[in-house]
Amino acid sequence: MIEITEVYKSFGEQSVLKGLSATIPKGKTLVILGRSGVGKSVLLKHIMGLTFPDSGEILIDGIDITKLKPKDLQKARLSMGMLFQGGALFDSMNIEENVSFYLNQHLNPETNKPYPKSYIDTKVKEALAMVGLSGIEKKNPSELSGGMRKRAALARLIVYRPKLLLYDEPTTGLDPITAMQINQLIRKTQKELQATSVVVTHDLISALVVGDYLALHNEGRLSFLSEPEEFLKQQHPIIEFFKKTLDQDPRLLKEVIWHE
Ligand SMILES: Nc1ncnc2c1ncn2[C@@H]1O[C@H](COP(=O)(O)OP(=O)(O)OP(=O)(O)O)[C@@H](O)[C@H]1O
Ligand SMILES: [Mg+2]
Repeated sequence: MIEITEVYKSFGEQSVLKGLSATIPKGKTLVILGRSGVGKSVLLKHIMGLTFPDSGEILIDGIDITKLKPKDLQKARLSMGMLFQGGALFDSMNIEENVSFYLNQHLNPETNKPYPKSYIDTKVKEALAMVGLSGIEKKNPSELSGGMRKRAALARLIVYRPKLLLYDEPTTGLDPITAMQINQLIRKTQKELQATSVVVTHDLISALVVGDYLALHNEGRLSFLSEPEEFLKQQHPIIEFFKKTLDQDPRLLKEVIWHE
């Protein structure tokens, strides 16, 4: 469960988060919509403990991430994963090295020893299979398409089974079909890991496919946090605009969105 209370953040003169609050129940997915530059990525970085608020609280399963000492913060981050805007694989490593990075860098918390190589190999294979990229272990990121890179980044994330997942514009720049595959993958990951998730997107179709709740990031706060049908009833120019894009989007297959 994520509980954000009255978070304020300014960069110099620029006030970005202005008393932002939100609660995301355990195992649920909140989708954040909003215009470019309003502070969506900044918010995700706060939840991950990569940026700190000027004031306010961010409780992750009851622990205030904003007040942890560096060592405890590092420990807390072990159960979180973020898909950064742009994917961000390590270009100098092949896909296998990328996906196994986390397991290679950390000790097994149960034994306090490195993970055995055979274990890591199995986990990497499982993660790549889950995102539909079996057999590309030895390829470099530069040899993959944009959609494949996003899926590989997702594999790198799910390999250590985080309990909290943050996705920053996971479908931006992808063709509609690949975007839908990524959406389905996010849902599949959600079900498998039972993780609490936050997804930032500009794509209302994507929002409706993955979100249990939707919210509008506007004027430094999250407004209208509610279930999708309720959210779409709200009278706000930006929500009206999103709804118009929905009417025109050829991916609008209602069965896919509202049912399984
Ligand atoms: N480390 C930083 N130092 C100074 N300003 C920052 C920093 N990080 C973000 N900002 C500013 O905060 C504002 C919000 O940035 P953010 O990246 O969160 O926008 P966003 O909502 O994710 O936009 P987009 O949809 O384009 O990704 C921007 O004006 C940005 O310049
Ligand atoms: Mg952003």
